[in-house]
Amino acid sequence: MKGIILAGGNGTRLLPITRVTNKHLLPIYDRPMVYYPLQTLQAMGIRDIMIVSGLGHAGHFLNLLGSGKEFNARLSYAVQEEAGGIAQALALAEDFVDGEKIVAILGDNIFEDTENVAKAAAEFANQQSGAKIFLKEVPDAVRFGVAEIAGDKIVGIEEKPKQPKSNLAVTGLYMYDTQIFDIIRDLKPSARGELEITDVNNVYIRQGKMTYQVLEGEWTDAGTFDSLLRANKLAAEKLSK
Ligand code: DAU
Repeated sequence: MKGIILAGGNGTRLLPITRVTNKHLLPIYDRPMVYYPLQTLQAMGIRDIMIVSGLGHAGHFLNLLGSGKEFNARLSYAVQEEAGGIAQALALAEDFVDGEKIVAILGDNIFEDTENVAKAAAEFANQQSGAKIFLKEVPDAVRFGVAEIAGDKIVGIEEKPKQPKSNLAVTGLYMYDTQIFDIIRDLKPSARGELEITDVNNVYIRQGKMTYQVLEGEWTDAGTFDSLLRANKLAAEKLSK
């Protein structure tokens, strides 16, 4: 399986601290934000990793991470010229992926329980096709993609719903077969003008090819001031060695 870290976007919710740098280069306690998704992929034993970042800051990622030797990884880099959405950023990795399954992770997502996530990755590697996502109970579901569950099946995901159908947020860790690139080619931009990862996931759900796991360990994104603070606390209290 190949890994993709999505580190594009404009980080507008963190202005002014993202005016001259990229969100994923900001410190989370004792290391740059992008180290955490890299370490999550590392825990899954994924070595070939592409980092997708935006114009303007791509060179900074290269300066910081280089070949990836320090992480026992082989890093590749791609540039997303405009922040056209997570699915658009993922599409840039098609040649790199070259027919393998993928694990994609958002560059601002921090997971405490990398052990269980690694187990799930191993299971997915043996799964013939389809996709897998990871859900987490949250108090503020309106900020996220939210899963609707019926029985033990996932029947749909709504992106930032005003009235969430559950308290289960879709976290920024996704596993896909290569059908994803055909799905992205058929996507239309959402009302906010982006190719949405939630639309991709809903295609897999409609096809009956989506599996999920509810995470037990802590999880947070870091794209707002409140979640950035939470990420720092999580890192300082539970993740620093
Ligand atoms: O954190 C989990 C949530 O992430 C999910 O629950 C949502 O379903 C998903 O849409 C996403 O929501 P956000 O609105 O928080 O996503 P945001 O625009 O902050 O982007 C998250 C990361 O994705 C960002 O850190 C970098 C990457 N990204 C984003 C965009 C818009 C890109 O690489 N390129 C992009 O164009």
